Amino acid sequence: MCGIVGYLGTRDAYPIIIEGLKRLEYRGYDSAGIALFDGTDLKVSKTKGKVADLEKKSEAEITTHGCVGIGHTRWATHGVPNDVNSHPHVSNSGELVIIHNGIIENYDSLKQELTSRGYTFKSDTDTEVLINLIEYVKKTEGVKLGKAVQIALNQVIGAYAIAVFDKNKPEEVVVAKLGSPLAIGIGKDEDEFFIASDASPFIEYTKNAVYLEDEEMAVIRFHKGIKVRKIKDDSLVDTYVQELQINLEQIEKGGYEHFMLKEIHEQPKAIQDTYRGRLLRNEAIIKMAGIEDNMKKFLNANRIIVVACGTSWHAGLVAEYIFEDLARIPVEVEYASEFRYRNPVITENDVLIAISQSGETADTLAAIKLAKSKGAFVFGVCNVVGSSIARESHAGAYTHAGPEIGVASTKAFTTQITVLTLIALRLARAKGTISSSDFRQHLLELEMIPGKVEQALKSDDLIKNIANIYKDAKNMLYLGRGFNFPVALEGALKLKEISYIHAEGYPAAEMKHGPIALIDENMPVIVIATKKGHYEKVVSNIQEIKSRKGKIIGIVTEGDVQVRQLADHVIEVPESLEALSPLLTTIPLQLLSYHIAVMLGKNVDQPRNLAKSVTVE
Ligand code: F6R
Repeated sequence: MCGIVGYLGTRDAYPIIIEGLKRLEYRGYDSAGIALFDGTDLKVSKTKGKVADLEKKSEAEITTHGCVGIGHTRWATHGVPNDVNSHPHVSNSGELVIIHNGIIENYDSLKQELTSRGYTFKSDTDTEVLINLIEYVKKTEGVKLGKAVQIALNQVIGAYAIAVFDKNKPEEVVVAKLGSPLAIGIGKDEDEFFIASDASPFIEYTKNAVYLEDEEMAVIRFHKGIKVRKIKDDSLVDTYVQELQINLEQIEKGGYEHFMLKEIHEQPKAIQDTYRGRLLRNEAIIKMAGIEDNMKKFLNANRIIVVACGTSWHAGLVAEYIFEDLARIPVEVEYASEFRYRNPVITENDVLIAISQSGETADTLAAIKLAKSKGAFVFGVCNVVGSSIARESHAGAYTHAGPEIGVASTKAFTTQITVLTLIALRLARAKGTISSSDFRQHLLELEMIPGKVEQALKSDDLIKNIANIYKDAKNMLYLGRGFNFPVALEGALKLKEISYIHAEGYPAAEMKHGPIALIDENMPVIVIATKKGHYEKVVSNIQEIKSRKGKIIGIVTEGDVQVRQLADHVIEVPESLEALSPLLTTIPLQLLSYHIAVMLGKNVDQPRNLAKSVTVE
């Protein structure tokens, strides 16, 4: 939920850390801080607010730089966002300094114990407790920093990715991980090291990285390399240096005003990247190693349980419609946060599909662990390569959407649906629930989706005009049926999270069981009314809205006549197979919420109270 960055090497650490924090700001942005050793002393600067605020403040406060430092961008868990609660936190002696992403659940009892031993605390954070615990252990046991960190972490309950150093031994940084991600970038000849929550802060410096596993820690020494150990039993771990595939352009805005807009426009390519090498139309096959290798598990499954959160959960709902329709496998879609705590019935014959863009969502990860403990087979659908969920799953498929930086998920959603459609089609073929001609038809149509998304994006100006008309609405209703019901939910979520306008998504036919009472001349209702999805029934729903004076924005198939006559506005999307239509109908809804939020002056890429990956409960 927070972003951490560190540097140890021969360059000036300050600009590397500040730029790195800017790239990680999507992870949390209520406060930020930096600590450096300038060759003589420890310099710390921190502030409530964004990294840009830190940059201003620290330029004045830190005038001498050095080659070792750590930085943090925060999403508060313990203690309100203010200067004092911002990281880094320094120990009572002023010698040790720490940054931390995660939560120390037993911090209160640890704090009481440390207080009874004379320690004092400036902040309300769990992190300040941890650095003082490390200091206490180091002093009382007379051990080196690495050992002290290890002993302290064995007393801690919770989740963490931490980086710690001692101003008296600045050639060494100690890092550790449990539950929150931590990557170590390794410079050429091991003469410099980068620490970060993901690889984006260091990809222009090195493509070689080690990802720590849970319950691992590393002591990183200048010119001496990295030693990774298990926190629990101190055993040494062989490090696996991974070669990173991302490049700098992928994580920059590329001329767009916001990451969200860039990512909306990237969808044609992202969808293509998702099916590239998997959808082989000429041979009429779908090839996905994770499915082929585990085909029996899928074919013998009693049911598929999908677990996810937020937008990924909406992609899961679309998958439920597609799997049941094409592959005739019963599917249940669960909020990971509910599933993990409600004592669900899980058997060895269940397949659990976990969907997560970041691959780090704490609830989804916990749901996976629960399902695994009951013997279920777990298949992960993630975007971030090497993420915790990808590693925790028995098998999986990456979405290959490329880095998604905007907090509101866009291309992650459409690429998740693409992967899940490929899986459903592959299983349908294996089960014989789809005819060969229908299968070919789906492959052909899927290949045409990127071009059709391109086409849907061309309605941008029209959508901007509609956004301008409805930007001051207090509420909005989103309706859809069948495959497009989850799209209505997703459209409402997009609007809520970036414009802060209250919005509800509903199955169109459910409207008459309650929400219809909300409709009057002030209620804009966005209705997904494409030709193939229960069209006539949705038209009747539109008539019900119209007779109550609601304002209707129809998302319709190109050339539509009937809805056009009833609606106040229509936005056309190209025609496609019904099962694939969510990939198109979601595009105007993303653009509508984007433009409304921009017109309202909201921070589109970093909406208030949110963070990109929710690594806490
Ligand atoms: C909404 C959004 C969130 C995420 C949710 C799950 O735009 O981004 O609702 O979808 O936090 O995140 P992942 O997919 O990373 O598990």
